[in-house]
Amino acid sequence: DTINELLKKGKAFAQAQKLLVKFNVRTSTDPEDEGCYLSIGQDKCLEDCKFNVTAKTFFIIHGWTMSGMFERWLGSLVSALQEREKDANVVVVDWLALAHQLYTDAVNYTKVVGKDVAKLLNWLQKKEYFQLENVHIIGYSLGAHVAGYAGNYADGTIGRITGLDPAGPMFEVAEPNRRLSPDDANFVDVLHTYTRETLGVSIGIQMPVGHIDIYPNAGDYQPGCGLSDVLGALAYGDAVKCEHERSVHLFVDSLVNQDKQSFAFQCTDSSRFKKGICLSCRKNRCNSIGYNAKTMRNKRNSKMYLKTRAGMPFRVYHYQMKIHVFSYKNLGETEPTFSVTLHGTNSDSSPLPLEIVEQIGLNYTNTFLVYTEEDVGDILKIKLTWEGSAQSWYSLWRELKSYWSQPESSSKELQIRRIRVKSGETQR
Ligand SMILES: *[C@@H]1O[C@H](CO)[C@@H](O)[C@H](O)[C@H]1NC(C)=O
Ligand SMILES: *[C@@H]1O[C@H](CO)[C@@H](O)[C@H](O)[C@H]1NC(C)=O
Ligand SMILES: *[C@@H]1O[C@H](CO)[C@@H](O)[C@H](O)[C@H]1NC(C)=O
Repeated sequence: DTINELLKKGKAFAQAQKLLVKFNVRTSTDPEDEGCYLSIGQDKCLEDCKFNVTAKTFFIIHGWTMSGMFERWLGSLVSALQEREKDANVVVVDWLALAHQLYTDAVNYTKVVGKDVAKLLNWLQKKEYFQLENVHIIGYSLGAHVAGYAGNYADGTIGRITGLDPAGPMFEVAEPNRRLSPDDANFVDVLHTYTRETLGVSIGIQMPVGHIDIYPNAGDYQPGCGLSDVLGALAYGDAVKCEHERSVHLFVDSLVNQDKQSFAFQCTDSSRFKKGICLSCRKNRCNSIGYNAKTMRNKRNSKMYLKTRAGMPFRVYHYQMKIHVFSYKNLGETEPTFSVTLHGTNSDSSPLPLEIVEQIGLNYTNTFLVYTEEDVGDILKIKLTWEGSAQSWYSLWRELKSYWSQPESSSKELQIRRIRVKSGETQR
């Protein structure tokens, strides 16, 4: 309440806000070490903080908070950045006092906080060797929109902004200058992990807001976050937080597991991706996710998709299966269950279900997406199995068996004429 009172008093506003947005430079790899603070106009702080003006500078901007405290992910992100880019400056934008308000008020503060970040950047730009191109702002949830405002108000163009599940409520329909958008930085990449709608809103923004917008697991249910995944130990709110925060952990994963990069594939929508249609890397249609993402500045936004594991490292191996199914007879409404097992030079996969998004097409090449958590290596053999709950499929199976054993008396009802497998990761 005292903060609100302060803010209401016009003149005190600027002063209060200064105290309420802090630029915390993490000078040590010790998470307990508070580091030091930058203050606009005070050169001595730069020295005290050992701020390296020629190096990269990361700004981490947190989101709305119910606890008023930093969440645990912040420490992991700071140390992952420090570990990966040893010379870099890592600055935490602490706006906890303003973020620890009613959500609608916190939304309102994103603009002033963003302006403050821009002011700091404009001051830093007066230092010799400091370049806006070397600035990478990483904003989580509401913090992503703070980053958007910072990009709007900074003189010049910020190098990169990464939006980690940018907040949805009150931003889904906002004009581009009132939310994160591609014009806020030279490269804006976004991870969407919670775009599922409940009562008409989703925690993370659904619409694409960057140059590339990556929707892991369709931006929907994240593996390992469901209530049943954790033996009911999580309350509903924790499951929500787990999915929203997954964006941060995917980014941390990209920093620390450089040798286990996850790739995302451009696709017009998630159902086409689920059908396995989009596993191409031609013409920049695939990219690493998170920190290792290649700069892409398409005129049109690219939506990209991938599957992930439930925990770090999140990488999986995607395969496109093209199966030509031939039949003389129309089989009517059938719902068979197909599964494949990939036998590779490194290992064998478990049986992988082929998700049938629509119906199996007969006399037609059906495309499926399958993925494995383990690296099977080069594929040596594919085992395809099917079973049908429908009676007709069971009888078909029996007929097929008799067809194989006595080909001369074949009824020739169903044939798999061709199977082609393509790996998304190796493009082979
Ligand atoms: C500052 O950063 C630059 C560029 O990364 C690096 O070459 C230099 O060694 C750094 N200086 C110090 C004092 O760490
Ligand atoms: C948002 O902040 C502005 C001042 O920046 C204030 O005039 C306005 O009333 C606030 N709106 C809400 C909904 O709090
Ligand atoms: C598939 O094609 C064959 C001819 O090649 C045709 O006889 C058969 O009716 C077709 N099957 C279906 C289900 O359309």
